[in-house]
Amino acid sequence: MIKNVQKLEKGLRGNITIPADKSISHRAVMFSSIAEGECTVRNFSSGADCHSTLNLFKQLGTDIRFIDDKTLKISSTGKFYPKDSSALNCGNSGTTMRLTAGILAGQDFDSVLIGDDSLSKRPMRRIIEPLTLMGADITSVDGHAPLTVKGRKLHGINYVSNLASAQVKSCILLAGLNAEGETIFREPYRSRNHTENLFKYLGADIEIKGASVKVQPSKLTAKDIYVVGDISSAAFFITAGLIVKDSDFVIKNVGLNHTRSGIIDVIKKMGGNIEIINQHIAAGEDVGDIRVQYTESLKGCNIGGEDIPRLIDELPIIAVLASQAEGETVVKNAEDLRNKESDRIKCLVDELSKIGVNIEEKSDGFIVHGQGGKLLAQNQVSLPPILETYHDHRLAMSFYVAGLVCKNEIAINGFEWTKISFPEFEELFNALTI
Ligand code: S3P
Repeated sequence: MIKNVQKLEKGLRGNITIPADKSISHRAVMFSSIAEGECTVRNFSSGADCHSTLNLFKQLGTDIRFIDDKTLKISSTGKFYPKDSSALNCGNSGTTMRLTAGILAGQDFDSVLIGDDSLSKRPMRRIIEPLTLMGADITSVDGHAPLTVKGRKLHGINYVSNLASAQVKSCILLAGLNAEGETIFREPYRSRNHTENLFKYLGADIEIKGASVKVQPSKLTAKDIYVVGDISSAAFFITAGLIVKDSDFVIKNVGLNHTRSGIIDVIKKMGGNIEIINQHIAAGEDVGDIRVQYTESLKGCNIGGEDIPRLIDELPIIAVLASQAEGETVVKNAEDLRNKESDRIKCLVDELSKIGVNIEEKSDGFIVHGQGGKLLAQNQVSLPPILETYHDHRLAMSFYVAGLVCKNEIAINGFEWTKISFPEFEELFNALTI
């Protein structure tokens, strides 16, 4: 589907509520499926990725029912009774495949995990190697899905990862719950900690020291889970508010977990007008409302090292934000961006260049030479320029926001990919433009 986007003639105003966090929604279904008992999951994500997880666990035999479109009742004995031996489809979702592999590796049955074209190109050795060290038997196609997982008795490991990845960490911790002996996972910087938070909440024996997590074999006990709003979804609105003239609005219910809120620190460094109000804890997660106002003079900044896992999914929209700042924004140590739903470094550079963003590709990131609030203008003859999304939801939404500050209309090919994480995206934008 092609979506045409035009410059906004007036500021964004009003208030919106951000829908559920994708990472927590996945984990709510998975962890309630391996827990014993019944629970209610409130404010579950409507994104296609989380529904891939939901359908997969139903296929494994977990009793999951909708009370309404965002509320689930999950009832489990903590064991799986797969309905048949057909492949488990993870769709476009890396989180579904990598975390589920950690759960399936230690079961007493075999399974096959498959995904769509994009997911089948993403690296799986990062989980296969540590799981194999735990005694797992996983066959892949040259390190890619389909993954054939033969259920085996696992044993704990002490694993030092060279990648800060919550998906790898969560996979190994999930396998560790069901292994013999303790499992320790250490990463170079701390990645998002929703698994650790929920493990604690559901009664796992877990210890956290800096970027190292230790889990003992444990049984989880089902408890009700409320899913806070997704800061990665809010990031598109925060950016739009900062760069579209005369904007002033409030984004409600945004998850502000420290391991996810790197974008807030970047915006503060850039001098953006944002204010966090009504900050509180909901279901063990920091949450608050964010007031965002148009900021005339943003300045470029450096992003790298331990910042990266705290804003990995926000880097595409940060590139758009940086295009409106004065000076350079340099992103380093983000090579894993090339392994996301698309090669986000190359695709961002190729597509944003079409609309006049001065962006340079680096092996581990990119440099944006900002143009200080001037409208973006394409340097090609064809009108409107067509930006490709490469089956990548975050590129589609980032390009939409870029379109709001382009001199001329732009076209986004494959805009329907927004449904992967954020089906409400356009509707919420429209709510701020009335
Ligand atoms: C996620 C972890 C991150 C992130 C992804 C969701 C998670 O991936 O990019 O969107 O829910 O654990 P990596 O662990 O591969 O960095």
